[in-house]
Amino acid sequence: MNKITAAITAVGGYVPKFVMTNKMLEEIVDTNDEWITTRTGIKERRVLKEDEGEGTSFLAIKAAEDLIAKKNINPEEIDLVVVATATPDNMVASTAAFVASEIGAKNAFAYDLLAACSSFLFGISTVAGYIESGRYKKVLLIGADKMSSILDYEDRTTCIIFGDGAGAVLFEPNTEGLGLQDEFLRADGSGRQFLGMEGGGSLMPATIESVTNKKHYIFQEGRTVFKFAVSNMAGAAAEIMERNSLTHEDVDWLVPHQANKRIIDATSNRMGLDSDKVMMNIQKYGNTTSGTLPLLLWDYEKQLKKGDNLVFAAFGGGFTWGSIYLKWAY
Ligand code: UT7
Repeated sequence: MNKITAAITAVGGYVPKFVMTNKMLEEIVDTNDEWITTRTGIKERRVLKEDEGEGTSFLAIKAAEDLIAKKNINPEEIDLVVVATATPDNMVASTAAFVASEIGAKNAFAYDLLAACSSFLFGISTVAGYIESGRYKKVLLIGADKMSSILDYEDRTTCIIFGDGAGAVLFEPNTEGLGLQDEFLRADGSGRQFLGMEGGGSLMPATIESVTNKKHYIFQEGRTVFKFAVSNMAGAAAEIMERNSLTHEDVDWLVPHQANKRIIDATSNRMGLDSDKVMMNIQKYGNTTSGTLPLLLWDYEKQLKKGDNLVFAAFGGGFTWGSIYLKWAY
């Protein structure tokens, strides 16, 4: 019998209706469209407003429902639901458990996975292991974040970058050698002083003081994070190519985390890729954290062909980063 590999067999996605443009941000903080566009590549981002829906689970459910409808699957056949997120609905109750129930995956177990902007990338590794083991046949991996819930719209260094959104992929066993081929994943905890959210966890539970001092918003030392992101994301992608003997001609698509167009360009340059092989949606969604990679697949799905070589690369808080080599299966 052929070896079982873990392949993506369906994609879904969802972005909130409300479009926040750079011009709108100009009205809120001391910034301008030109600065944001040239420094990041972002023109607009989506924000989940209360009149549309609430919480990260709303986005995750919508993305999962999109996938289920497109693929016409029976949700009762889903074995596992993993929600990759940095902004769960609640600190303790699993967001994934709620999402699984709402989409009718009543025979599934479910849990959240948190590795900041690398959550979805690490999620691919996690769920692929379940499929490769032969124990599970249908695993839903959702990347979802309501970043607006942890943004300080008075802080121009963070509020311009992030947006809300979610994407979902279904993993199933494959015996043609398609799906996950290799992974290079890393973490360095010394990075948490440069990017994160100090309040709300066990280290700094919510107090009047923590709220007053804005400790429940994301902070970032942009310049430092930028340097680490460029060298580690590009380095991980180069490493994956080298150890799988992939030339730039062998790579059909780079699926890069969308934090800053300059980081994406540095990564694709290091890989020797032309821009037409680089998936990009930063201009319309900004950085959607865990939603970014599956939303790229959602946007580019129609252009993908069976057997295409995809290289994913991401960098995020923690620090966490890495690269994954995957063959498209449909
Ligand atoms: O997704 C997780 C991982 N995150 C990342 O990978 C993000 C990495 N970092 C970045 O993408 C960039 O560092 C930022 C986009 C966050 C910032 O861009 P930068 O080119 O590194 O800007 P900077 O922080 O070095 O600031 C340059 C100047 C400063 O002014 P002075 O000191 O030169 O007078 C800032 O005060 O730009 C100013 N500035 C702004 N100006 C207008 C900072 N933010 C803004 C703003 N609008 N929004």
